Amino acid sequence: MPGASDDRQQAQQRTLELRGILRHHDQQYHSREAPEISDAAYDALFQELKQLEQRYPEFAAADSPTQTVGAAPAAAFSVARHGQRLLSLDNVFSDESLLEWWQRCQRTLGEVALAEQPLFVCEPKIDGLSIALLYKNGRLVRGATRGDGEVGEDVTPNVLTLAGLPRTLRGNPPAWLEVRGEVFLFKRDFDALNEKLAAEGKPPFANARNAAAGALRQKDANITRERSLAIYVHGLVAAVGLEPSSYSEAIEQLAALGLPIHPLATHCADLDAVKAFVARLRAQRPSLDHEIDGVVVKLNAVAQQVELGATAKAPRWAVAYKLPAEQARTKLREIIVSIGRSGVATPFAVFEPVFVGGVTLSIASLHNEFEVARKGLLLGDTVIVQRAGDVIPEVVGPVVELRDGSERPFVMPSHCPVCGTQLEQQPGEAQRRCPGSECPAQTLGRIVHFCSRGAMNVEHLGDVRPQQLFDAGLIRTAADLFHLQAEELAKLPSFKQKSISNVLGALEAARSRPLDRLLVGLGIRHVGPQAALALADAFGSLLAVAAAPMEALLAVEGLGQVIAESVHSFFRRSSSVEFVERLRAGGVRLDRVKERSEGTLSGKSFVITGSLAAMSRERAQAELEARGGKVTGSVSKSTSFLVVGSEPGTKLAKAQKLGTATLDEAGFLALLD
Ligand code: IVH
Repeated sequence: MPGASDDRQQAQQRTLELRGILRHHDQQYHSREAPEISDAAYDALFQELKQLEQRYPEFAAADSPTQTVGAAPAAAFSVARHGQRLLSLDNVFSDESLLEWWQRCQRTLGEVALAEQPLFVCEPKIDGLSIALLYKNGRLVRGATRGDGEVGEDVTPNVLTLAGLPRTLRGNPPAWLEVRGEVFLFKRDFDALNEKLAAEGKPPFANARNAAAGALRQKDANITRERSLAIYVHGLVAAVGLEPSSYSEAIEQLAALGLPIHPLATHCADLDAVKAFVARLRAQRPSLDHEIDGVVVKLNAVAQQVELGATAKAPRWAVAYKLPAEQARTKLREIIVSIGRSGVATPFAVFEPVFVGGVTLSIASLHNEFEVARKGLLLGDTVIVQRAGDVIPEVVGPVVELRDGSERPFVMPSHCPVCGTQLEQQPGEAQRRCPGSECPAQTLGRIVHFCSRGAMNVEHLGDVRPQQLFDAGLIRTAADLFHLQAEELAKLPSFKQKSISNVLGALEAARSRPLDRLLVGLGIRHVGPQAALALADAFGSLLAVAAAPMEALLAVEGLGQVIAESVHSFFRRSSSVEFVERLRAGGVRLDRVKERSEGTLSGKSFVITGSLAAMSRERAQAELEARGGKVTGSVSKSTSFLVVGSEPGTKLAKAQKLGTATLDEAGFLALLD
């Protein structure tokens, strides 16, 4: 059958090709700290090769990248032969393949007796570099990189600079102890390092892993020390006298010796608990203090680990559940400048569409011209784009090595690209603004904001319809929306009968939105949902807010000087007065104060600081309000609780000073429960 042998030949060719490609990328990744493709792209090639080798076992080769680990050591370091091979981990990418892995384990183990100890331990898979550490009589005598798994590089002087790693073990250390761990950089240290490099005019590292690799393999250990590398230990290889019967016992013993163990290492009694851990970590990922690329699931009982053993490359008793890559490379096509509703000119990177963090991205804000310069971006650069969890997409920086000389610098325009007015820059401000009071971009931006979900939530009026109405000359401000007539809409080609009734229906519903939503919709500088709620509660109607003197505004709890001044001056402008009058004439209720729901938290007042892993701050506020709680923007004597997320702001210090009760995320979730 010619078809079958053609297929076979093609498969063989592809197998050889994939091995070549993967070897090249192994070298780039392990020895040169300069990966050229994303981890996800590498994984895809790796899986393709693995499947081909499974389908055609006759192509198998001992030196295939599926059978080997990493790359040989570079000449700059002396060679360190590992006592036991440093293995890698097999990957799974879904709950289904996790189950398949577990079924494979069970086939070997037979009917798994539900041991007293939990079946699994799950840990974050730290995106760093493996390290093998040797302690003799409690003293750290050797640190070695993974290398090719058999022989690594001796980086002992560098490892001795790791602040979190004891040089001498505590308690009663064994005479001989070999452990494995992961060296990495905390996000804050990575950011600080890149800022320092930028200040010195040097290109930044593309990601924390590359930066950690660079720091660990410095010939001058003083440079390693300056870079604040961190480490967690994730495996006990050999020890004289320590004989744990489970991984959890092993990490307890290692922690007792003073070794750093990941604080999120967790027992999981069954596969459902493992899946729940993965889901939780996926949600927490953006707020973790270091990068992870998945979860490592380890069978806990040492007896079961021994029974399952390992392949040439990886243990069978552990698996890496990989999370989707949050970084990818793409080409920066252009930088466009967009004018926001307050006139701020923001450069946006427009790049070739790229799939990252579960969605396709093609645009990301660059904030201001200084950010473009700080990141060292040139038009035409290959750039690294990231999207961590539901966090806003970001251009991390250029891949400088891939420049070919055709790249061009970006020049910030001096005039508004929409209305042509010369842009202004206030001293001390990073952004330029368009001062044009008639600038269509600003007017339209204000209308879109007014209709948006966080403000008046006018359905069927997203970005496109306001633009059509504006271009047709039917609206000049958002208040004009409430004067639209079906007949004039019918004249627009894009408005059919159904969409006319949808739009008019949505506007009718919006006429009775609560006052705080209306206040947000006005787009007064510094007035967000919390300040709007405080104003609505204090004054009860828009006309009363508009008439309020400074003293009355300053007396509102949770409103500082800056917001009070902004509100005061907003309502002193004739355009604002006209706007409010036109809303009123259009039938918009100006005095509907949100009724507070009664519930378990009635009478309690909350302030939220930092970010929560389980939900956004808006959602947290809604959850508290739904139970009758009140959420304000700043801590005062009447605050019942401060909810403290990760990276809390100055509110925490204020709460401590006032003796306000605080709730961490777990306490907050328990309260909602
Ligand atoms: S356990 C026998 N636990 O991931 C190998 N590895 O992709 C057992 N890694 O080589 C490894 N975090 O360098 C383990 N919590 C963790 C880890 C972890 C990161 C690294 C490790 C390993 C690589 C495999």
